[in-house]
Amino acid sequence: MGSSIDREASFAMLDAFAFHGGNFLDSAKVYADWLPIERSSSEKTLGRWMKARSNRDKIIIGTKGAHPDLASMHIPRMSDADITGDINASLAHLQTDYIDLYWLHRDDPRRPAGEIIEVLNESIKAGKLRAIGCSNWRAGRIAEAQAYALAHGLQGFAADQMLWNLAKVDPAGLPDKTLVAMDDALMLYHERTGLAAIPYSSQANGLFSKVAAGNMTQLPATYRTMETSTRIDQVKKLSEASGLKITQIVLGYLISQPFTTIPIVGCRNMAQLIDSLSAGDVVLTPEQRSTLLQAS
Ligand SMILES: NC(=O)c1ccc[n+]([C@@H]2O[C@H](COP(=O)([O-])OP(=O)(O)OC[C@H]3O[C@@H](n4cnc5c(N)ncnc54)[C@H](OP(=O)(O)O)[C@@H]3O)[C@@H](O)[C@H]2O)c1
Repeated sequence: MGSSIDREASFAMLDAFAFHGGNFLDSAKVYADWLPIERSSSEKTLGRWMKARSNRDKIIIGTKGAHPDLASMHIPRMSDADITGDINASLAHLQTDYIDLYWLHRDDPRRPAGEIIEVLNESIKAGKLRAIGCSNWRAGRIAEAQAYALAHGLQGFAADQMLWNLAKVDPAGLPDKTLVAMDDALMLYHERTGLAAIPYSSQANGLFSKVAAGNMTQLPATYRTMETSTRIDQVKKLSEASGLKITQIVLGYLISQPFTTIPIVGCRNMAQLIDSLSAGDVVLTPEQRSTLLQAS
């Protein structure tokens, strides 16, 4: 929003999203600083839209900070000054005095998780943040942070944001090695604790729809696995048998997990937005979910 999608188209999509009952938006201070446009254009666009529509109290804003500098992705930015400075900057961009759900965009495994929880709780106490979450954290680190919060009477993570969709990731094909995809350890953690999952790239960048429409002949490196090819066939079969659209199955797979799962959808145009919203009420049975993961 506000980057490759200009302001007018962004406002039209945000209006449509709100009209259909949507109220939860995902942004980040670093979006979309990889483009030669104004810094933090996503947050600023959301801030301008909420101001123009006077609807801040109706929107749940999730935004992220503590992302490494784009030129030095191997150097974490997780000090008190980094985190608190980013929170203050996001508040200004969004033209608000509180953030509903503040995400740490990355982790620094060399820093004690408790130290990070303490920093975030200072901003909670100051009224700047309502809830906190982690993105691209591994299960062991989440457990460490939650244990510290519990032991010290502090607020822990309310949700976890990871790369997760119906395709099977090839870790070697991931373009950014600081991203964390759903894996067995994370899945077990969510099942055991009930921590909410709010996955990104939830549609594998439209892979399933694009293959079904004949618009993609070679799988992208991130998802070039045998399992992905098989699941493409399983999605097609379930679509034919159930009458559900491809998008509804791909997002329905996530929505129907045994713990709260809220897929973030990245829509580039109004048609994709409306298509993705049509998955909102889809419920897949546990049998349908396991069939999707089975070999042909
Ligand atoms: N925490 C993190 O580190 C992190 C990382 C990445 C993303 N995110 C968040 O997650 C959001 C979504 O991520 P994403 O863009 O990678 O995920 P995505 O939703 O899997 O992919 C978006 C792409 O999928 C295609 N698409 C979307 N809806 C479609 C539909 N209904 N039918 C067919 N194709 C469709 C479009 O491709 P085309 O443009 O080719 O048409 C679109 O650009 C981001 O905007 C961001 O807020 C977070």
